[in-house]
Amino acid sequence: MFKANENYLKLPGNYLFSMVASKIDAYGKQNPDKAARIVRLGIGDVTQPLAPSIVSALHGAVDEMASAGTFRGYAPDLGYDFLRETIAREDFATRGATVHPDEVFVSDGAKSDSANIQEIFSSDARIAVCDPVYPVYVDSNVMAGRTGTYDQKTGLWSNVVYMPCTQENGFVADLPAADANVSIIYLCFPNNPTGAVIDRARLQAWVDYANEHGAVIVYDAAYEAYISDPALPHSIYECDGARTCAIEIRSFSKNAGFTGTRLGYTVVPRDLKDADGTSLRDLWARRHGTKFNGAPYIVQRAGEAVYSEEGKRETREQISFYMENARIILDGLRSAGYEVSGGVNAPYIWLKVPDGMTSWGFFDHLLESVQVVGTPGSGFGPSGEGYFRLTAFGSRESALEAVSRIKAL
Ligand code: MLT
Repeated sequence: MFKANENYLKLPGNYLFSMVASKIDAYGKQNPDKAARIVRLGIGDVTQPLAPSIVSALHGAVDEMASAGTFRGYAPDLGYDFLRETIAREDFATRGATVHPDEVFVSDGAKSDSANIQEIFSSDARIAVCDPVYPVYVDSNVMAGRTGTYDQKTGLWSNVVYMPCTQENGFVADLPAADANVSIIYLCFPNNPTGAVIDRARLQAWVDYANEHGAVIVYDAAYEAYISDPALPHSIYECDGARTCAIEIRSFSKNAGFTGTRLGYTVVPRDLKDADGTSLRDLWARRHGTKFNGAPYIVQRAGEAVYSEEGKRETREQISFYMENARIILDGLRSAGYEVSGGVNAPYIWLKVPDGMTSWGFFDHLLESVQVVGTPGSGFGPSGEGYFRLTAFGSRESALEAVSRIKAL
């Protein structure tokens, strides 16, 4: 009789956002009179429609697909050159960072890339994650059998190095100990879930650590478009030496509203080699070629339009819109006496739940008493216990309504 992959059986519970969705669903079914009142600030899903220049690029590409002369079949599995070249120029060269088009791998999104990237590392590679953390990094390594055993009591895996992000360190993790023996370090800035940011000097210290200890940083920059402080780095390749120790993952979801359209990319520099000189870039290309048939042509054309002058202007306006939501939530909750952080160069607001409550307790309390949904901090890791995440990606009404209902509690 066949056996299922036992690593999957080790996963505790369901994927965090599926759990939140099923709780909302159950509450709505039990309270049909209140279901329509629910304000959803849980999953970081955008609500603004795609910008006009992006829609127009989509239409144009659909028309091309409708004509024999311009029809396209399989996309190149690493991405169309027009998009890879645009990305290398607009996201990196303009910031003084060196990334070559053939080091850019276009995909269907940052979530899948951040889950899949671990495949090109040895099965005994030790990972280090921030705590709290975007759950995909840990879960994908659990599925790969890399994380050891799970301790129900502590919520920790035996073979994962956790780097706590607490109020004391401003929610920016300290470097792992010199003897931590980590191979893959996951970092995300601006941070999901805490909304914390990192300055150039501190990011440089991570790059120096990784180079010194033979580790690779998987840098998730999905929220870089929300940085408004000119002193903050948008890419890890703005740091010296990052090309020999860092992979960067980017998304079109949050900067341009592609959560439903799906587009992202990963940069793996040619200079990134393992202890035996194996090129991780070549392994990732091999993996992409085998497992992926390329993001759709029409979506890649839409991605290209994000970098046009109108595209930049329109998406900047959307980002300002979401950041005004963040300001409303941040100021409103602060004036109601909550301790809040994030929400300035990031679309997530991280709030301390009232004393004596757990994160899930606060989730239930908000849902049941005022029908507001957020994400429990403990769902992102043990150090998230006692915290709660709200997203700025909702409509203006939902941001205002959530704040006024929470204030009235
Ligand atoms: C989140 O809410 O953390 C994100 O939307 C999840 C994701 O991007 O996959």
